[in-house]
Parts: sequence; C-alpha cells; structure tokens
Amino acid sequence: MSNEFISIETSPPLKGTASLVGAKNAVLVIMASLILTRGKNRLSNVPNSEDVRHMIRLLESLGAIVAYDIDKKTLQVDTTTLRSAQIGADIMRKMRASFLAMGPLLARCGEADMALPGGCVLGPRPIDYHIRSFKKMGAQFTQSNESLHAQVKTLQAVDHILTYPSVGATENIMMATVLTPGTSRIINAALEPEVLDLIDALKKMGARIELEPPATIVIEGVTSLNPIDHHIMYDRLEAGSLLLAAAITGGEISLPEAPGRSMTVFLSLLEQMGHEITLGEGGTGVQLKATRDPRAVSFKTMPYPGFPTDLQAPMMTALCLASGKSVIHETVFENRLVHVRELQKMGAQISIEGQTATIVGVDELYGSAVIASDIRAGAALLLAGLAARGHTTMTGVHHLKRGYDGIVPKLAALGGRISTQYKE
Ligand code: EPZ
Repeated sequence: MSNEFISIETSPPLKGTASLVGAKNAVLVIMASLILTRGKNRLSNVPNSEDVRHMIRLLESLGAIVAYDIDKKTLQVDTTTLRSAQIGADIMRKMRASFLAMGPLLARCGEADMALPGGCVLGPRPIDYHIRSFKKMGAQFTQSNESLHAQVKTLQAVDHILTYPSVGATENIMMATVLTPGTSRIINAALEPEVLDLIDALKKMGARIELEPPATIVIEGVTSLNPIDHHIMYDRLEAGSLLLAAAITGGEISLPEAPGRSMTVFLSLLEQMGHEITLGEGGTGVQLKATRDPRAVSFKTMPYPGFPTDLQAPMMTALCLASGKSVIHETVFENRLVHVRELQKMGAQISIEGQTATIVGVDELYGSAVIASDIRAGAALLLAGLAARGHTTMTGVHHLKRGYDGIVPKLAALGGRISTQYKE
C-alpha cells in the first residue's frame, strides 16, 4: 500500500497560466490502435501517467518495441515485430482500457486472448456492446474462468447499432472494422473529442472513415494501414479541473491550449455560476476570472456534447460553496457519487437519491482526511482541500496518477498550498 498522500492547506486565489497534458482518454486508445499498423509509429504530447505505462507494457507483451521519452513526451512504437494476441491477466487487471486492444487484435491477427476487464467503483462496466458487435462480425468467443478467447477467420462488414453511445464500444468496433472489406456503420456512435482524435489517427494510417449526422460513423475497409506520427489532443478534463481550481479559490487562470470549443456546456455552466469565461482565437484557449459569489446551477451528465461525466465530481466540489441549491443527475455511470461521502466529511451539505445529488451551498468546507475512490473523485477532493479551512490530507493517490500527469505541482505553481508527502 503506497505511503504517499497529498497534503493541502487553505489556499489563496489561484492565479496564472498553466499548460495542459495530452488527453488520457485519447492516448490510451490511440496507443492500442497502433496494433493495426506494421512499422515505426511516433506519438507526441503523451502524458506521463500510470495508465500510459500500463499500455506500454501491454504493447511490449504483444511483441511491439516501445521507446518512451518522458521529458520530450514522445513515444516511438515499432509494431513490425508484434506477434502475440494474448494479453496477460496482470495487465488486464490493472487497467480496463486494455480491453480496447481486442478490436485491433481481431483485425490484425484474427484472434485475441485476454482476461475479462473487471468492473470498478463506477459500476460493473459491462462490455456487452463490444462482444455483441464482434460476434455480429463473425468472431467466436470461448470463456474459461476469467479469460476470454476470440477467434475469427474473416471479419464481416455489418451495421452496428449501439443502444447507448458507448465511447469504448465505438472505439473498439471502429478499430475492428478499418481492415474489414466492405462498408461498416456504427449507428448512435459516441463522438467525444477523444473518439474524434482516434478517427484522426486512423485516417492518418490510411483508414477510410466518414461521419454521417447525427451520429453514424461509416468505415470503408482497406487492406493495410501505415505507421503514423500523431500529436495527442490536449486534455479537456484536466483543463476543466484546473478551471474549477481557480473558480473555487476565487482566482484567475489562463489555459492557452484548452480546447474551449469542446467544453461548451461545461463552460456555459461556469458562466451561469457567475464566473467570467473568455475563449481564445478560434475557440482554443480558455480564461476564467472567478466571481467571489458563485451561484448554484443544476445539470445532468450526458454523452458528448452534454456535460461530461468526468467533470461531475470536480464540479460538485465547486457547487458545495455556491449559494443556493444545485441538483446533479449522473446518467452515464451507475455509481459515480462515491466522492459525496468524502465531501460530506469536509462539511458539504449533500443528499443523494439514486444517482441524483442535491447540494445546498455552505459558507465553508473544513479540512479533513479524505480518500480518493477514482481518478475524478481525486481531483474533486484536491479542489475541496484548496478551498477548505484547515488542513486536508488525501490518500488513494494512485487513482489520481492514473489520469493526471503532474497536477499537484501545477496547482502549487498557481499558488495552491499543496504537496505530495510520504508517511514515515
Ligand atoms: C470512457 O469509458 C472513458 N474511459 C471514461 O473515462 C468516461 O467516463 C466514459 O468513456 C464516458 O465518457 C476511457 O476512455 C479510457 P462507456 P468507457 O462505454 O468507454 C455502459 C475517466 O475518468 N456500457 O461510454 O468505459 C457503461 O456501463 C474515465 O477518465 C454498457 O452497458 O465508457 C456505462 O454506464 C472514467 N455496455 C455507459 O455505458 C458496454 O458494452 C458509458 O460507458 C459498454 C458500456
């Protein structure tokens, strides 16, 4: 058990300019998509996170040769020698996103062998949409204990109708279809910015992909895909968390790389709270000047372009100190209110009914010993500690490190009184 914890004191208004890292939810799937190529790929703007290191181990376990330059934030991935289609349980257990290798392995090798991805604190996280589509394409599945074996002679081009616009299912299915002869469609697809970054990378490889409004992805199969050089998109979720850190401390922040155009609903809610938002040229770059008297707002989390579920927890923290009653309805995951209990420990007035949280703003939160249950809950608790009166310690730091590269020093550079410490 790590003896690492984060120590946070009441902080002055955060002020300044911060850079962003590459998006976790784009880099992991794009790394998996490299399985489709044969040759030397280069990814830039790669965040330095635990999940990236897990995905590197996954690619190396398949026979790829990976060189990671943390300082330059670049990954060289040579897939020429990729020869296995088997992913060990140790790798699968550590990261659900490993399952995104199934589509590319079926397309490249006609088989895939991996442990079932576990659920997590957010809920069972099923993979039924993925499996149903791979079966519709002709894959045969056998399951023994916790491992799943998929085999197919030739994948078929068919229409895939998603009853829910699942991000992972859209990505996994799309990666299975790009080398499948004929026309495949994914209807009611997820079109999150990270999915669009994957499409951009696949098209660079030579894949033929078009979007048909409102949410259909049309893929014309090709015979082979070339290695790529791709810059990972900046992380809108890190951007949202940093904006909320400035909002909750009454500060002022500029994020020149923030993809403001893909944060519209989130930013409009910050404005409804009374914060001043300014977008940069062409929608790239976001500035926030916090109001000293934030107002309550209500929202539901939705698939893109609705309010992103990954910003629900940090936004809830900001609403704990807004005047009035806010109602948050989490519609994407079955159990994504685990952070409420920790915020209540800090004096937040929150009640829960099902997946709906009602927050009544309070004048202040109190420092406390809290535990992060997942990546975004960790971000929410850091923000709470910055604004709370007194000292906060947060454990469960490994969650944070999975999805945020260097957020503690970044907050400290903006004036946050926050540091990583180690228990004796
Ligand atoms: C991706 O997870 C992200 N992870 C999540 O980010 C993000 O919260 C989520 O999309 C929604 O935007 C990565 O990209 C690595 P889903 P994913 O499939 O693909 C149900 C973070 O904090 N479902 O869109 O797993 C599922 O149970 C993480 O960065 C099925 O029922 O999300 C959930 O209720 C958390 N059957 C809903 O769909 C399936 O086969 C949305 O899941 C697949 C999903």
